[in-house]
Amino acid sequence: MQNIITTLKKLFYLWRRSQVPVKQPIKISRIDNLIIFLICILISIISSYKLLLISPLYIEDIFSWFLTFTEILISSGVLILVSKKENPTISSRQIFLIITLLLAVQVTKLALASTISPLAMIIPPALIISQGMGSVTALAWVSIASFIWPDPEIVINNNIFFILLVFASVVSLLGGRIRSRAQLLQLSIFVPIGSFFSQWILIGKDKISITYEQDFVLANGDIFSDSLLLAIAMLFTILFIPIFESIFGLLTKARLLELADKENPLIRRLSLEAPGTFEHTLLICGLAEEATRMIGGDIDLIKTGALYHDVGKLHAPNWFIENQDGSKNPHDELDDPIKSAKVLQAHVDEGLKFARKNRLPKLIANFIPEHQGTLKMGYFFQKAKEKNLDINEYYFRYRGPIPQSKETAILMLADGCEAALRAMNINASDKEALETISNIIYSRKKDGQLDDSNLSKGEIFLIKRAFLNVWKRIRHRRIQYPTSKNNTFS
Ligand SMILES: [Fe+2]
Ligand SMILES: [Fe+2]
Repeated sequence: MQNIITTLKKLFYLWRRSQVPVKQPIKISRIDNLIIFLICILISIISSYKLLLISPLYIEDIFSWFLTFTEILISSGVLILVSKKENPTISSRQIFLIITLLLAVQVTKLALASTISPLAMIIPPALIISQGMGSVTALAWVSIASFIWPDPEIVINNNIFFILLVFASVVSLLGGRIRSRAQLLQLSIFVPIGSFFSQWILIGKDKISITYEQDFVLANGDIFSDSLLLAIAMLFTILFIPIFESIFGLLTKARLLELADKENPLIRRLSLEAPGTFEHTLLICGLAEEATRMIGGDIDLIKTGALYHDVGKLHAPNWFIENQDGSKNPHDELDDPIKSAKVLQAHVDEGLKFARKNRLPKLIANFIPEHQGTLKMGYFFQKAKEKNLDINEYYFRYRGPIPQSKETAILMLADGCEAALRAMNINASDKEALETISNIIYSRKKDGQLDDSNLSKGEIFLIKRAFLNVWKRIRHRRIQYPTSKNNTFS
């Protein structure tokens, strides 16, 4: 009994946690909302108007049409809600993509339902949606696209409907997890092969038609050409995914991994022109990755975001301490704390310019201003106060915004802890390291920097443990191994 109560409590806790938005939702303008609504109306009209094309038309027919129309309109609304739930930062462009694909499929069904297999119509768009918006949105899209057929005369064979649902679901589930273009290519080969054999077993053997209409009786050859068409459609979709990425601002796993490649020209530039910043970036990647893994966040996103968070320092690398060799500091020569603060703020502004120039996705560009939030540039503020006691703190705070997601908040904390952990004595105990980490995190929290991030107390605790684990690894690497004359192997 006790176990059941504990499990129920856990489930209730998990449900309550799932209701808290993980990221601040993006506001969609009224015009965009209106356009989205109009497209949904259009989908509903296209999907139901044929119900009105019967004569004589009775009042029951109009009622039945109205029910179908409302059902499709509500389904489209639910689809948008599901996509917003799965992607709280979804933009209007991405919602346009989801519903425009639904509209395109409904139009294709009207025009080509008798010639093209439903698999070739529904699976390729499902792949795009699962890649860009995640598996749950893709599954919701697939269920609507599979169940609503605009032409009441075309009734899909149960077997083909079953195959369609299975393969579209597989593509939706795998598409959301696939991390490379090579895996996508494998999917586009194995799914058509799988669908061919399923159709051959369930339909081909008994020579059952794809639809109940006589015109569409299929032989095995047709199943083959259908599967070939599906393969071609999927291959074309994979070819076009990069274009969809740039037009609709989609951030697929494959794109994230491509951006995380250290051979990327911008990252190469960072390693050559600002080696100190590059080292700092790599260490932060380690800290942030470990912490994100602990709280179950998006590891690929934070790894890539961390890599680009300080690219803005490329505009003047030697103005940042990690790139100075200790001989001279340009800030000392400048001797103007307000101007120095402007140079620091410029690493955020210039970073955003680099992001625009290099067409970095918005979710990655967000790491640039949010990792600094509205933090105070304490050192220069102190210096300015020594000169003028009345100086306004405003000039010495980054312009924000404060972290809007758990990932950008983790990056801010990692950024704060990195230098302190690196500077720590090799003989420092775990307790001392944890104390340093806790103090830095507490100061960020007290300053209100974590207010919009939705990090819970439990998650902050896990982040501290994760940073400590990374520190232990760093310390282990720094301990020199004993060497002797005989010990020449490694
Ligand atoms: Fe920074
Ligand atoms: Fe940084």
